[in-house]
Amino acid sequence: MPVIATHDLRKHYGEVKAVDGIDLSISEGEIFGLLGPNGAGKTTTLHMLATLQRPTSGSAVVAGFDTVKQPLKVRQRVGMVFQEPTLDSTLTGRENLDLHGRLYGVKGKERPGRIAELLKLVDLEGRADDFVKHYSGGMKRRLEIARGIMHHPEILFLDEPTLGLDPQTREHIWAYIEKMVAEQHTTIILTTHYMDEADRLCDRIGIIDHGKIIALDTPENLCASLGGDVVKLRMANPTTKPFEAMKFVKAAEIKGNEVLLTVEDSSSHLAEILQRSDGVQHVELHTPTLNDVFLKFTGREMREESGEGGFLADYQASQRGH
Ligand SMILES: Nc1ncnc2c1ncn2[C@@H]1O[C@H](COP(=O)(O)OP(=O)(O)OP(=O)(O)O)[C@@H](O)[C@H]1O
Ligand SMILES: [Mg+2]
Repeated sequence: MPVIATHDLRKHYGEVKAVDGIDLSISEGEIFGLLGPNGAGKTTTLHMLATLQRPTSGSAVVAGFDTVKQPLKVRQRVGMVFQEPTLDSTLTGRENLDLHGRLYGVKGKERPGRIAELLKLVDLEGRADDFVKHYSGGMKRRLEIARGIMHHPEILFLDEPTLGLDPQTREHIWAYIEKMVAEQHTTIILTTHYMDEADRLCDRIGIIDHGKIIALDTPENLCASLGGDVVKLRMANPTTKPFEAMKFVKAAEIKGNEVLLTVEDSSSHLAEILQRSDGVQHVELHTPTLNDVFLKFTGREMREESGEGGFLADYQASQRGH
């Protein structure tokens, strides 16, 4: 029996079809990744599964209960780490965890030990009694994650859990997620824009765009589905013409000043490819990654890892109010 099953799940906001007919079946102890561009419908999907938003139509059964008919039963069994900050900044870190524990029925006897364990996990022991308003962005994110797992949820929704965190903390959090799954069979659904995170953690990945799941499989199968290696040629005058007659070229497209080829058995064919193309300035060859899969299905790039620029910089700018 799946732990999460949705049937033609939809959420429409007027004309906007935020989620447009999703069918998912997720097993206990699975780590399922939802990947998609900004505005694809990831957060809306998680919110409906966590009973925080009501579907326009369709249904979702989570931990054996219907999210619309039995929301309280669902809520007792799920944890959520929100994309947007939701901590109480007028309380300390420890008080935030304690309040959440009380709300979710973590027993008084167990609470202090659990809080100490979580503060250690997210490396906030030294700042536990400071007000959250004096925390840095990364510290708030870490506390938010600790709070999401405070009450040992059976199912955990993580909406971009490690956005803006330093590499060491991300590694810690990944290891803890894996431990929860191994030891407690927690089921995890996460969204991420980080390819390394999806690759490392997810058993299966659903790529979502415009509210629809457009690909769903294991990371290995998704990569294999491209049907060959990726060869990138930077050219003075990019064209796909020379490659059209080559049987071993499975796909060819122009992206800016580059031609992207999907090539079967690329090492034996690279010489011929180069011979037949004019004005090649730079060549890159790799086995397909999730980023290539994402690009193929959505026409956009994922982020490779944390760092400056791109999505993260946009996010940080938006947090500063720019
Ligand atoms: N409360 C709302 N009212 C109106 N439109 C909304 C609302 N919430 C979300 N939307 C729209 O629904 C679509 C999906 O939004 P959602 O937040 O689910 O995307 P997302 O995949 O989580 O994107 P991101 O990667 O930016 O977090 C967007 O077009 C968004 O503008
Ligand atoms: Mg989102």
